[in-house]
Amino acid sequence: MNYQKKTKKILWGGATASSQYEGGYQLGGKGLDTQDCRPYLKRTSDATTSTRLLTQSVIDQAKQVEGIGNYPFRMGSDGVDHIEEDIALLKELGIEIYRFSISWARLYPRGDEEQPNEEGIRFYDAIFEKVHQAGMKIFLTMTHYAVPLYLVEHYGGWTNRKLITFYLRFAKTVFEHWGKYVDYYLPFNEINAGYFSPYNGVALVKPENGPYDQSLVFQSLHHQFVASAQVIKLGHEMCPGSQFGCMVACFCYYPLTARPEDNLKAVRDEQIHQWFAVDILANGHYPSYMDRFFRENDIHIQMEPEDEQLLRDYTSDFVSFSYYSSSIATTQETGEQTAGNLVVSTKNPYLNASEWGWQIDPIGLRIMLNKMYDRTQKPVFISENGFGARDVLEVDGSIHDPYRIEYLKQHFEQIEQAIDDGVDVLGYIMWGVIDIVSAGSCEMEKRYGVVYVDADNNGNGTYKRYKKDSFGWYKQFIEEHA
Ligand code: BG6
Repeated sequence: MNYQKKTKKILWGGATASSQYEGGYQLGGKGLDTQDCRPYLKRTSDATTSTRLLTQSVIDQAKQVEGIGNYPFRMGSDGVDHIEEDIALLKELGIEIYRFSISWARLYPRGDEEQPNEEGIRFYDAIFEKVHQAGMKIFLTMTHYAVPLYLVEHYGGWTNRKLITFYLRFAKTVFEHWGKYVDYYLPFNEINAGYFSPYNGVALVKPENGPYDQSLVFQSLHHQFVASAQVIKLGHEMCPGSQFGCMVACFCYYPLTARPEDNLKAVRDEQIHQWFAVDILANGHYPSYMDRFFRENDIHIQMEPEDEQLLRDYTSDFVSFSYYSSSIATTQETGEQTAGNLVVSTKNPYLNASEWGWQIDPIGLRIMLNKMYDRTQKPVFISENGFGARDVLEVDGSIHDPYRIEYLKQHFEQIEQAIDDGVDVLGYIMWGVIDIVSAGSCEMEKRYGVVYVDADNNGNGTYKRYKKDSFGWYKQFIEEHA
């Protein structure tokens, strides 16, 4: 057989996010943001994440605490004190693209100011310049969950349409100052997180007693969709040639059985959980299946007359997603439940899982790449993937993480397969390339990096950096594929 494999050179990268990495939560006039108020809660076995508990009384308590206390995001990985060293490590690693985010509250401490905070500008000037000098391309997440707390307490977060104006002001500052450095922009991290994790995704505070109001959740999401379209419009005007993406957390649903009901559930779960955001942001319209979902759940959102046109005219240039594990859909109440990124799912008997219950499924990545490309026909960036595990720092400073190497190897093989399938893959970005605080559980112990940061869940440690075995492995892989 004369089979010719299709190959393509893609970008290999690594990522961090400001709130999980930087620390310096009050440095240079930074305002308090939503992530600074999330306490570390000891992990329980029921897979709940601490964001689900973020009520106003939890925030009020956080505001009383001066210093780091029990609030790990205030310290992150102490990036502010290690920026030069970390960028040098990333350069040594050889990544071609670095994904990081800007703290909105460092640039606009309250969020509604007319002018940005000059110290915040200088803080990021230094980072952009160093990353650029190190020869890496930049994939900028404009907001990765953290929203200035003032906007939450005085405007109601993204429920308020005024946030679009404030966000555009923030975006304009970013384009003016650092547009020349950025290759790929992401207006919002995992935009569908607003549905599963409203505090993280749309800065919505949980009512003290009872669930979130779904109309508020989807109203907030609508404002983010419109903001994304407007940012793309402004970005293309101010930074010609720049590429704007959209991003969702992907779950890859499999039906538990061949029962048609389970199959229908898998289709429906994927529509509501991930495709609806992709259909709006990449394909330019609210999909019809959302109409039924809104009717069935008594969800009402208000749109302005110009919104439809904006969404149609300013769609993303590329699509991207985070992928960690796959999920199971079933209408039957059966089976053991397990955790995953943002969602809890029925356990898949054919897959192993991490200590945190996230099921390891490299083939799911190939499936998601195919589905995403089939649906949008736009180039695809894997903007997040990696293995969260407990690593052990040996007395000689080494960290042996064969499980992470194996995870990466298997996922990279599936990317190669997807390229051969015909998917237009742009690049792969390893999540938490330097250990950072976990977004779901506020822990340090759940590590993704190829660089180890010496700190524990309570913020004890030297914050010194150590290379794990996976550092050498990823470095060599990039050298061979660059
Ligand atoms: C994604 C987020 O949901 O998953 C990241 O964009 C997060 O911020 C990552 O860190 C992994 O999740 P966790 O909960 O293990 O940190």
